[in-house]
Amino acid sequence: MTQRRAQITGWGKCVPPVKLTNAALEQLVDTSDQWIVERTGMKERGISHVEVTDLAEVAAKHSLAAAGLEVTDIDLLVMATVTPEITCPSNACFLQERLGLVNAAAFDLNAACSGFVYSTATVASMIESGVAERVLVIGAEKLHFVMDYWDRNQCILFGDGAGAAVFEATTDGSGVIAHDIGADGVAGRTMVFPTFGSRGELDRQRDPAIDRLHFEGQNVFKHAVRGMAASVERALERAELTSADIDLVIPHQANQRIIEATINRLGISDDKVMLNIETHGNTSAASIPMALHDALAQGRIEPGSTIVQTAFGGGLTWGTNIMKWGDRVEPIATSEADLPPTDKSVFDLLAPNREFFAPYHDKAHLT
Ligand SMILES: CC(C)(COP(=O)(O)OP(=O)(O)OC[C@H]1O[C@@H](n2cnc3c(N)ncnc32)[C@H](O)[C@@H]1OP(=O)(O)O)[C@@H](O)C(=O)NCCC(=O)NCCS
Repeated sequence: MTQRRAQITGWGKCVPPVKLTNAALEQLVDTSDQWIVERTGMKERGISHVEVTDLAEVAAKHSLAAAGLEVTDIDLLVMATVTPEITCPSNACFLQERLGLVNAAAFDLNAACSGFVYSTATVASMIESGVAERVLVIGAEKLHFVMDYWDRNQCILFGDGAGAAVFEATTDGSGVIAHDIGADGVAGRTMVFPTFGSRGELDRQRDPAIDRLHFEGQNVFKHAVRGMAASVERALERAELTSADIDLVIPHQANQRIIEATINRLGISDDKVMLNIETHGNTSAASIPMALHDALAQGRIEPGSTIVQTAFGGGLTWGTNIMKWGDRVEPIATSEADLPPTDKSVFDLLAPNREFFAPYHDKAHLT
């Protein structure tokens, strides 16, 4: 009998309507559209006016419609995020209630930007072993909450959003065929979010010097290229494939130059790579499921395509999944789910952030 595997049968995304363009960033920090495009490939990112569960809910509803499933069909919900609303209940449990997934177990998974590839490896193993049948995986982030919009080194890179995928058991030869996941806690010091946790004294006030992303961009860049390329090679070996067998790579959208350097190392041509970094920026755990959605919408995935997802992120973590797509590349149904409208500008949405971090830069008079 053909091996039981996990196949993606539904997909969806949610992008906030308010955009942070490079032109807007030029008004906030000493940067230029040219510098950002040349160094990152980014032109705009979504900035959320709602909470992370709201983003996740919309993406989830689209993916359930695409899979043609009812909420009661789902037996496991995994939410990959580094920006949960609170730590307990998990964000996945919030979402379980919101969507009415009454038959689903639910947990959050934190592997930073590798969250979706870690989640895929986890749920595929659970489906293969018979622990789960139909699983909803969401990557959702409200990253602007922790970015310092006075600091040009970090605030240009990140955006908010959510992507979702439904995984179902299959025995038709398609599905997730190999994984590689790993971590390096020592190198993890190159990227730290020292917030959202129990560290420190109970009465500690939020501090703009502490509650911000600390990262060494160039260092992370080098680890990312080496880490993703090596991870893809290990996964290909496990799948008994070579890079010539790959139809499409869906990489984590951290920096277009990181992606190009990784692809060059692997000897894969540019036309086999899915990029949407220009309009979304780095949305951490949401980036791969959002790019997967866009790849399907653009007709980049065909029945039987061999697809590689690969990511790198805080931890440091990395991971790769190789899958053979099934027969269906069109959604079974569509959903009207959308975020509530807002009349706020991007500057309105970032004003609290600018106010919080201003003292750290001694620029309170400018807010
Ligand atoms: C952050 C990143 C875009 C910077 O690109 P880079 O080519 O490495 O640029 P450098 O860090 O060498 O900086 C070059 C110069 O540009 C300046 N610079 C940095 N950000 C700038 C900006 N937004 N606009 C203009 N200049 C900027 C730096 O201050 C530096 O100036 P200096 O030479 O006078 O010191 C890149 O390193 C990167 O993408 N790193 C990984 C990102 C990451 O960690 N993502 C999360 C994990 S997935």
